Amino acid sequence: MTMSPSGDVQALTSMEYRIRQYGLQQGSLEIQYIEEFFGEFNRRKTAAEVVARLSSRDHQIVMAEAALPDDPGTVVPVAYKVSHELRASEAEPKLADLVMRLSDSVTFEDRKILYSWIGGTRRDWRGQGFFRALTEQQEAWALDNGFDEVVAKTKNRLYDMRGTLDHLEFNVVQFEPNADDARESKVYLSKRLGRAVLDRHRSRRAVVEIG
Ligand SMILES: CC(C)(COP(=O)(O)OP(=O)(O)OC[C@H]1O[C@@H](n2cnc3c(N)ncnc32)[C@H](O)[C@@H]1OP(=O)(O)O)[C@@H](O)C(=O)NCCC(=O)NCCS
Repeated sequence: MTMSPSGDVQALTSMEYRIRQYGLQQGSLEIQYIEEFFGEFNRRKTAAEVVARLSSRDHQIVMAEAALPDDPGTVVPVAYKVSHELRASEAEPKLADLVMRLSDSVTFEDRKILYSWIGGTRRDWRGQGFFRALTEQQEAWALDNGFDEVVAKTKNRLYDMRGTLDHLEFNVVQFEPNADDARESKVYLSKRLGRAVLDRHRSRRAVVEIG
């Protein structure tokens, strides 16, 4: 159970998350904007990078928005998630490398695989269920769009993300130890999609499609 800093469990369980699902052009600009709030990311994505990665493949850009605590009339984006199709045969070296690393643990043949590429929740809004709501929206969309499995990649040292993916029932399917620094070891995770996944969803969501 997620609890707000004030410990108000009741408010969170009845909360409706406001989600925007964006088309590529506007979505890429929104991603560039929200990534500026993540000082912990070494390399924040630009709109051009997002467009280059997503334009030739099935993809989803979702953001959650919420009111500012001290100015409830102002609504701002607080969390985001970008995912895209990952195919057995990829031309882009980074993606080809990822497919190669996953090939022992994920079946690509005759299956549609979604890669959960980037995402996060702004610090002041963490622990309030925003990332769960986006993940559940991602899974509902993925199932509707014929995907069989979602894969994700993280590092040992991204402890918040690892804990979160655990709660969201992602399974570790591959581990690449880093002999020099265990914090940099890579962890690959996956979640197989099906009706049962949707049945376990908990968030109430109001989704608006833009662009
Ligand atoms: C990881 C992150 C996205 C979680 O976002 P969030 O909006 O706070 O997550 P939620 O509130 O939706 O929590 C989802 C679930 O994960 C759990 N969770 C959240 N943060 C956690 C943490 N630090 N440790 C363990 N579990 C955690 C919650 O309890 C919840 O589980 P529940 O629904 O079963 O109670 C956020 O902390 C973040 O943006 N971190 C930095 C971003 C990052 O590392 N990105 C990876 C770069 S590749």
